[in-house]
Amino acid sequence: MNATPKLDPIPLVDLQSQSRAIKADVLRRMEQVIDGARYILGQEVQEFEQQFANYCGTEHCVGLANGTEAIHLALRALEIGAGDEVITAGNSFAATAFAIAYAGAQAVFVDIDPVDFNIDVSLIEQAITERTKAIIPVHLYGQPARMDTIREIADRYGLKIIEDAAQAHGAQWNGQRCGSFCDIGCFSFYPGKNLGAFGDGGAAVSNDPQLADKLRMLRNYGQQQKNRHELLGYNCRLDTLQACVLLSKMQHLETWTEQRRTAAQWYREALADVDVELPVAHEQARHVYHLFVIRVANRDQLIAALAEQNIFCGVHYPHPLCTAAPFVDAPTLPLDLPVCSRVADEIVSLPMYPEITRDQVARVAAAIGAFVSQQEPARESV
Ligand SMILES: Cc1ncc(COP(=O)(O)O)c(C=O)c1O
Repeated sequence: MNATPKLDPIPLVDLQSQSRAIKADVLRRMEQVIDGARYILGQEVQEFEQQFANYCGTEHCVGLANGTEAIHLALRALEIGAGDEVITAGNSFAATAFAIAYAGAQAVFVDIDPVDFNIDVSLIEQAITERTKAIIPVHLYGQPARMDTIREIADRYGLKIIEDAAQAHGAQWNGQRCGSFCDIGCFSFYPGKNLGAFGDGGAAVSNDPQLADKLRMLRNYGQQQKNRHELLGYNCRLDTLQACVLLSKMQHLETWTEQRRTAAQWYREALADVDVELPVAHEQARHVYHLFVIRVANRDQLIAALAEQNIFCGVHYPHPLCTAAPFVDAPTLPLDLPVCSRVADEIVSLPMYPEITRDQVARVAAAIGAFVSQQEPARESV
């Protein structure tokens, strides 16, 4: 029997190419840490914090164990906890809502804008109660949320803002970097992120020196001085070996981001005549395409059809957060988050990484075009 040979796989994310580019530099840095035995909060952590603060346009950066803890500790530093409500988008990764719950506060989920998949700013005011203490916008997929409107609402109601910028390293709104608009900006360096470690990592950035000091204490058992525990803190520090990886990758981050943006443009051109909804990039925004997410009818069949051709996609995320067991009783606005629910059934994340080639993008687009042309006529949009 003559089986058709499969074409080379196109993964959703390709971490190996990136690692090859930095391996020698990472090993050199790690060797210095090993030789000096400076494993916990070594100088590489401080060096990275300085560089990342500069990159974000903030005064301070505190390296943390992961992005979830960045949001949790941000809430703790702002003294938000039991009895307080925190407004966030209904379609983020679970960590955003988990961090709110870890702090003891109540997540209040707001529906999203069908155009950019970020929190619908026209609904935020209706979700505010006397218990509301903060808004956590999520810059989902690398597209900034509408920070000017969110800032204006937060100022009017005296609310704090914590940005979940886990997917938005280097993204900008009106020329300003995500993470720098608010009280505390939170980042994840999970390996697949635009800036990813070789394991877990995260950071919180801020322009407020007191908040930065508090975050430093919270990550290290509440200590400023050894054995003087002033707060109920945690063991939540960025690992020095991970800081080595991040320092190496920082040198490439802007180039890699531009490569992602070029790949996004290739997708736009190749899919221009295909009946799918392409992501919108706002004029005021620098979208950094952590993910390139389209909307399409019969999403699951499309993913299966592409997998047959060795093209691998993802779904971020298949269920609105408020449907997760820990949050089924959480307040939502409106009640059933219709846009979140509809979008969750239609979104597909296409292969996206800096090293993806134009030919690979063309192959993905051609496969989508062939699938869509075999489908029933178009669906209605929300
Ligand atoms: C939007 C969002 N928030 C928070 C997180 C949590 O980050 P981490 O996995 O580093 O804890 C992630 C990433 O996983 C994320 O994508």
